[in-house]
Amino acid sequence: MLIPEALRALIEDGQVGAVMRQLKSGKEASVFVVDTPAFGVCAAKVYKSAEKRSFRQREDYVEGRRSGDSRMDRAMAKGSRFGREQRESAWQGAESAAMHRLHAAGLRIPRPLLSAEGVLLMELVMDHGEPAPQLANGRYSREQAVRLHRAIAQQVAAMLCAGLVHADLSEFNILLAGGQPVIIDLPQAVDAARNNNAKRLLVRDLANVTRFLARFAPEVRRFDYGNEMWLLHEQRLLRPDTALTGRFQAARQIADAQIVLQAIAEAKAARLPSRVWTPAT
Ligand SMILES: Nc1ncnc2c1ncn2[C@@H]1O[C@H](COP(=O)(O)OP(=O)(O)OP(=O)(O)O)[C@@H](O)[C@H]1O
Ligand SMILES: [Mg+2]
Repeated sequence: MLIPEALRALIEDGQVGAVMRQLKSGKEASVFVVDTPAFGVCAAKVYKSAEKRSFRQREDYVEGRRSGDSRMDRAMAKGSRFGREQRESAWQGAESAAMHRLHAAGLRIPRPLLSAEGVLLMELVMDHGEPAPQLANGRYSREQAVRLHRAIAQQVAAMLCAGLVHADLSEFNILLAGGQPVIIDLPQAVDAARNNNAKRLLVRDLANVTRFLARFAPEVRRFDYGNEMWLLHEQRLLRPDTALTGRFQAARQIADAQIVLQAIAEAKAARLPSRVWTPAT
């Protein structure tokens, strides 16, 4: 097992006691099971260098992202070495920041534990005493597929309430623990309020999940959770526990009715002073 340099640095300074096994080695990152003095056994995601995975840092994702430092933003926009290094650490920092935000909002994601140079330590998601499998690896009954589709949509809606869209959601970035979905892999998550592609990315995320689950239950194609939740979100009617129906048209009617009721209430409020105060003629 080849231990990347970034992980070796954590071993040297005592933050990681032992590397137990490698879980995955992919294009973007390698994930290891490690034992640590502070957190016990956990997952260590070790990022690959920017050149090897720059395709995921497309404009779609970074639009609306700012470091808060204009010199750094300009450097990141350029291709200089300094700019690349800054982009690299912003990318890793973005995953940790997104996970902290979502964990605080009560989402079913791995708990983030420690963010170090090139490595993110997080809770190891387990299922039946083993690291949890990807949604992609299972076979499902019709009922299970319909239930999972809805459970995933509810998590995506709760993420949206916390202000984020995953933007790379698929059967490979959802784990199954105790029959429930756990969303992972968040470096590209976009700010729902600041990124102009947010709606398109949200609808695409859910379309990916729908496409996969439709192999087991073709009827999931009828549930348009993406457009439904975006509409409710825009109308400020979406809450983390809003029960989604998957019926976009119905949601549109409810939202329209809500707008009419609000307009009536506002009109009434605007007229109120004239009842209590009549100008002298
Ligand atoms: N916290 C975790 N608990 C259990 N397994 C995990 C955890 N994090 C990641 N994994 C496993 O590692 C795989 C890769 O992780 P992740 O999706 O975060 O990286 P990635 O950027 O997609 O990497 P790549 O594209 O190179 O596969 C996951 O699909 C999952 O199987
Ligand atoms: Mg992944």
